[in-house]
Amino acid sequence: MMKILVTGGAGYIGSHTLIEIINAGFEPVVYDNLSNSSPVAIERVEQIVGQNINFIKGDILDKELLRKVFAEHTFFAVIHFAGLKAVGESVSKPLKYYQNNVIGTINVLEVMKEFGVKNFIFSSSATVYGNPRSLPIYESFERSCTNPYGQSKLMIEYVLEDVCRAQVDFNAISLRYFNPIGADESGTIGEDPSDIPNNLMPYISQVAVGRLEKLSVFGDDYDTIDGTGVRDYIHVVDLAKGHLKALEYLANHKQTGFLPINLGTGHGTSVLQLVNAFIKTTGQKVPYVIAPRRVGDIASCYANADKAKTLLGWVAQYDIERMCIDTWRWQSNNPNGYN
Ligand code: NAD
Ligand code: UD1
Repeated sequence: MMKILVTGGAGYIGSHTLIEIINAGFEPVVYDNLSNSSPVAIERVEQIVGQNINFIKGDILDKELLRKVFAEHTFFAVIHFAGLKAVGESVSKPLKYYQNNVIGTINVLEVMKEFGVKNFIFSSSATVYGNPRSLPIYESFERSCTNPYGQSKLMIEYVLEDVCRAQVDFNAISLRYFNPIGADESGTIGEDPSDIPNNLMPYISQVAVGRLEKLSVFGDDYDTIDGTGVRDYIHVVDLAKGHLKALEYLANHKQTGFLPINLGTGHGTSVLQLVNAFIKTTGQKVPYVIAPRRVGDIASCYANADKAKTLLGWVAQYDIERMCIDTWRWQSNNPNGYN
């Protein structure tokens, strides 16, 4: 059985990915400092897959512990989810973000080199495209970022490109996620923001469950279908399947070099379209007000997802309605998340 180190595996996307790779016969070792997640997520995944998961509470900044883990296991690949992701916090605490995301990733890469592990799957983001010159967004587009979180993702991509150039048998697939939402159909795992949510879908679902009073729609004067921001929402289970496809691709290809791949549906949905789909599919009320634009936001963002289809044989399956239903099952069963 191929062993995979999954950093950040207790988090939102990591926990869903564990299910897919375990069901496909890979053996994950999860390495997470639980700074933004709960051990309960791992227990729930164990219930879903019906087996125990090897979990190590550890920090990617702790190189000695990483070395110990690499000495104990022979890994085929690392799937690297560990990182901080709050855009606003990254603006006020840039050093924390560069330390954790950039230095942390370099630590993982250095220990991989020491132990001869050559396959890396990275959690990148559509944020690396900044304000795209046209839509849909192709992997070949110029990259630029305006906040430290995005910069940290971009810097890591540059590091990976250089490492791949220097070491020709090192393979790095950079999965550029669009906007992941939804949850496993069991309703037992899902997104559980520790603070008031910054992102749209968790905000909507917390309004619906009564934890928050009303949604603020950030701007209704964009050049879009109804004036509100358009994004490419993708079901987290589809995203998780994309990681499995990337792993399988690495298992079947000796030299991939640095390979950036969009994971999106290729379709844009506006804020009001998402709110209305949520109301319609769940029967819940979602009161909202129109508020000023959020600084740093762009009007529209959606992927061209052809590369994922051609190279990985991956296409997103779930539609917006399903994303709403699955989000609500998780939120309504777990009104306070994992607590
Ligand atoms: P998450 O916060 O739920 O998961 C990240 C996990 O990493 C958490 O469990 C956290 O405890 C862990 N972690 C953080 N710093 C660590 C460290 N120093 N050592 C060990 N573990 C650490 O976030 P997520 O939504 O699952 O995102 C996973 C990855 O995907 C992140 O790198 C994120 O930047 C990236 N990403 C997320 C989105 C999104 O919208 N959710 C979009 C694009 C990219
Ligand atoms: C945000 C981050 C981006 C990150 C992504 C996924 C910013 C500027 N960008 O992107 O770096 O990769 O999350 O984690 O934070 N909206 C509202 N009301 C809300 C929340 C959001 O109207 O309370 C709107 C936004 O203006 C946007 C859309 O909903 O049009 C989606 O917002 P969000 O979920 O935060 O994702 P992004 O802005 O795409």
